[in-house]
Amino acid sequence: MNAIVAVNSDWGIGCEGTQAIVIPEDRKYFVKMTSGGVVIAGRKTFEDFPGVLPNRKNIIITNDRGFTAEGAIVVHSVEEVLAEISSDDPRKVFVVGGASVYELFLPMCEYIYVTKIEATPPSDTYFQNLDASPEWALEEQSETKETESGIKYTYCTYARDVGATVSVARGRSRTTAPTPNTRPPA
Ligand SMILES: NC(=O)c1ccc[n+]([C@@H]2O[C@H](COP(=O)([O-])OP(=O)(O)OC[C@H]3O[C@@H](n4cnc5c(N)ncnc54)[C@H](OP(=O)(O)O)[C@@H]3O)[C@@H](O)[C@H]2O)c1
Repeated sequence: MNAIVAVNSDWGIGCEGTQAIVIPEDRKYFVKMTSGGVVIAGRKTFEDFPGVLPNRKNIIITNDRGFTAEGAIVVHSVEEVLAEISSDDPRKVFVVGGASVYELFLPMCEYIYVTKIEATPPSDTYFQNLDASPEWALEEQSETKETESGIKYTYCTYARDVGATVSVARGRSRTTAPTPNTRPPA
């Protein structure tokens, strides 16, 4: 599975239950990336959506046994999520937040698609700084683009770092010992 997230310069991802800055081009990128696949969302993030995301299998995780959402699959544990996606193509399964759900599933992710927004609005919810993590390496990065209102943003792909050789090949040196490949079987 993969994760997809839009982060501000300080890795902030949300404030008071919503995203402080939404870039329309990033929303289109999100739709393009996730369409035809599976999205896994926490109940709070789902409530910030306009509704069930069309053309995707929506899985919502909550502890609330009474929670329902027409058109979505509601589950109550990580195990139930894994059972629901067991026959889906893992390349098309996306963890879409928020912070608590990223934290639950990041150890199982192979790639993280990060839109970096060059701004620092107030945030109360953060993503882990992947640039400071020995577990993740920046694999690809688009050119930096700019919205009509002048906000700069860059699409980045992080891959689970499988060792120093790969990191060097990607142009990043590492100072820590290589971590074992914890990538789950596809
Ligand atoms: N920038 C981005 O790309 C992006 C993407 C997504 C979200 N966000 C932001 O992230 C923030 C929300 O993140 P959040 O961490 O507060 O909330 P969240 O992860 O969206 O949802 C948290 C809820 O998920 C349920 N949950 C989490 N772990 C569970 C488990 N192990 N078992 C059962 N249920 C579980 C619980 O629901 P119940 O309370 O119902 O039990 C919990 O309260 C918002 O500000 C949102 O805008 C940003």
